[in-house]
Amino acid sequence: MSSAARESHAPPPKGKPVTLSTLAGKKALGEPIAMVTAYDYPSAQVAEEAGVDMVLVGDSGAMTVLGYPSTVPVTLDEMLVLAAAARRGLKTPMLIGDLPFGSYEGSDVEAIKTAQRFVKEAGCDAVKLERGGSSVDRARAIVESGIPVMGHVGLTPQTATALGGYRSQGRTTDKALRIVEDALALEEAGCFAIVFEAVPAELSEAVMPQIGIPVIGIGAGPATDGQVLVFHDLLGIYDGHAARFVKRYASIRQDMVDGVARYAEDVRARRYPEPEHTYTMAPDEAERLREVLARHARHGAHDLLG
Ligand code: KIV
Repeated sequence: MSSAARESHAPPPKGKPVTLSTLAGKKALGEPIAMVTAYDYPSAQVAEEAGVDMVLVGDSGAMTVLGYPSTVPVTLDEMLVLAAAARRGLKTPMLIGDLPFGSYEGSDVEAIKTAQRFVKEAGCDAVKLERGGSSVDRARAIVESGIPVMGHVGLTPQTATALGGYRSQGRTTDKALRIVEDALALEEAGCFAIVFEAVPAELSEAVMPQIGIPVIGIGAGPATDGQVLVFHDLLGIYDGHAARFVKRYASIRQDMVDGVARYAEDVRARRYPEPEHTYTMAPDEAERLREVLARHARHGAHDLLG
């Protein structure tokens, strides 16, 4: 085992931006790639400080931060606000913007224009789109326009209804082969990486030797080149349904509820603010202020400073 592979748990050196060749190098060395979603300045800062390799401004933000029931309703303008905020919190990880449903499927021109907005207006390094099929052409067009593209196959939430709902995909050989075909087509179209979502571990393991670009799994077993989880799922902030593949590393939502509840109790019991949270005046200034206001109350003079 090379020394690089032995140190594969090490985060990237701080401040050295992760590039496409960093990711390709990690795949070549068998170093796992860590990716997480982020949707705003503080979550991006957390991802930066934690030393992940890639940050995805996922359209999952539709549900986790915007409160929509699915990823479908989020608009391009909403995604750009989230992505620009995440950009301001990041230096090192590669930043990928997720093209929202309805913003890229119509034509290559539409796909390129949308991808350009993520790069120009939000400062993203790359974009992600969902599905094989016509998305392969859209991916190729965006790559040819000079913007790196990440593919996404398996469970593709933007078209979950057509897939029979939010359920794992590719559990029979024929269905698995269709996913493999999509993945290979996206690689051939020039994608620099590809997400496998909610597919059997056996599928990932069997196809990995045939895919030359980094494969990032979410519910795709341990054989992929890297893993991605949704920030709000892994930290226990989102209180909606958690998929089988989610591992909770914290229970931040409960901490937040407890904190706000204690604050509200303190306000109601007049325990907050205490002297250390309070600004003061010099005693003579305070005394003068009280006198002026008392005079004002008695005589109703308009000119308080006169
Ligand atoms: O939107 C998202 O967060 C995603 C990841 C789950 C890959 O697409």
